[in-house]
Amino acid sequence: MEIQWYPGHMAKTKRELAADLKLVDIVCEILDARIPQSSRNPDIIRLSRGKPGLIILNRVDQADPAVTYAWAMHFKSKNYAVIETDAKTGAGVSAFLPAARALVADKIKRLAERGAAGRAVKVMIVGIPNVGKSTFINRLVGKKSAKAEDRPGVTRSRQWFAPPQGGVELLDTPGVLWPKFEDEKTGLHLAFTGAIRDEILDVETLAAKLFETLKRKAPGVVALRYKFDPSYCPDGFSMLKAAALKRGFLISGGEPDLERTARIVLDEFRGGRLGRLSLESPDELPEDIDD
Ligand code: G4P
Repeated sequence: MEIQWYPGHMAKTKRELAADLKLVDIVCEILDARIPQSSRNPDIIRLSRGKPGLIILNRVDQADPAVTYAWAMHFKSKNYAVIETDAKTGAGVSAFLPAARALVADKIKRLAERGAAGRAVKVMIVGIPNVGKSTFINRLVGKKSAKAEDRPGVTRSRQWFAPPQGGVELLDTPGVLWPKFEDEKTGLHLAFTGAIRDEILDVETLAAKLFETLKRKAPGVVALRYKFDPSYCPDGFSMLKAAALKRGFLISGGEPDLERTARIVLDEFRGGRLGRLSLESPDELPEDIDD
């Protein structure tokens, strides 16, 4: 299966991104802690090489804490500063400003020596749609400044924000996705978490693929939530069918209502009702990954 999603505004966004990078001291990537690798943008990694990088692992409330810790260690070993946040409650957000200042402490010192003390540290904030970027910025700036938009993929224009604590300015960029997902797994993980719109995929296939992933990653969670043993199911569709029958979701004639079940399973996963689940861990990364 190949998932493609290339709205026209993406090419323009990429050009603007390259220009904006020249204006900032730090690039801050907000990632989804459940899928840190799939929620990275390869364009950002390539274009911002050489700039100090700060990674925010957001949605930590929905991810497995041990796996999130492993990701934090992984990125730190690649010279990124890393903070962990739950932007919805605000947990961890206060670590952002000190982390940003520490990352460019030498530069601030050099500027001060040249008489430019007090110049704000400029940080570009990037993140794919639905990762929690607006929620994070709202938390940091302390008011409803960034528009929280619940439809993934909706464009926002670029904007500067200044948190009230001073000393740092944030450049918010519209969510950037890339023209072609580099592999099927990336596309699926983005679709499971709601970063790409359901309409571009058949919802039953998507839920069946989610079941296959859960069977590999967390079979106990499937058994607990949907009351069947996934080890008896040969594929994702048979799991979807088992879940429909267990929940009593039937259409006329007594057949399982796969579409309704698929929507509910995806909603439950996205809403965190299956518990704290990480779909990716750093030990699965290929050797030649861009970082
Ligand atoms: P975006 O700008 O990156 O596109 O994402 P946005 O901030 O609009 O967040 C998308 C949804 O994710 C929002 O939920 C937001 O509350 C939620 N969210 C953001 N950060 C976190 C987090 O760390 N943990 C959890 N669990 N959720 C997070 P929504 O349902 O669209 O809106 P609302 O009902 O929460 O207001």
